[in-house]
Amino acid sequence: MAEGKRGLKVGEKVLFGIFGAFVLLAAVGFYFMDAAVQQHPAMFKVTTHYNLSALGEEGSSIFLKEGCTDCHRAMQDGTNSGLSLDGEGSKRDAKWIYAFLKHPQETYGATTIDHRDAPAAAAFVAALPEEKIRALAAFLSELTADRGSASSSLPPEAHDDFVDKMVSIWAPESWKLKYKDVRKEGKQ
Ligand code: HEC
Repeated sequence: MAEGKRGLKVGEKVLFGIFGAFVLLAAVGFYFMDAAVQQHPAMFKVTTHYNLSALGEEGSSIFLKEGCTDCHRAMQDGTNSGLSLDGEGSKRDAKWIYAFLKHPQETYGATTIDHRDAPAAAAFVAALPEEKIRALAAFLSELTADRGSASSSLPPEAHDDFVDKMVSIWAPESWKLKYKDVRKEGKQ
């Protein structure tokens, strides 16, 4: 029999047929799922926001390039092995963040794990050039979170007179000196 052209055997036809059916099914499935995703509102409410200045934009790319995302998460990039820094600007201001990046332990007032002297894994951060640290601090201070969300240090805006009354009646006098009402602080 001459080599070369010959028709497909039945088995081959069946195999190709099955393969083709899978590809088709995947394409159709993708199309419908994609359409469904576009139509439905986000499954989780977005509670973190950013509005970057030019310096913040610069800090954002330094954040990626310097490998901060090896440990941190911010604006959907990075990992969760360190702290998530989304909403950081609602907890700390640029001045605090700058001070932390330069002198982590003094600023924390406690022993840190990674941001400290070598061989700690984030020892390189404090040694970054001044401009980079400034841009990083600006960037992180521009990541905000809604009050009451997991990324915010403030409780929700809602106010309950009953709870306030109970606290004022039952809370020991010493608490009033020891704790401050964080809702009264203006910061978002
Ligand atoms: C090896 C992991 C690692 C890397 C890399 C890293 N960090 Fe961190 N970061 C941590 C950990 C862990 C903490 C908590 C403090 C500690 O124990 O060191 C932290 C804390 C922080 C905080 C304080 C957050 C707060 O409000 O308490 C900031 C800001 C921060 N990191 C920024 C950065 C930036 C910017 C970079 C990159 C230039 C970076 N980190 C790289 C692990 C890391």
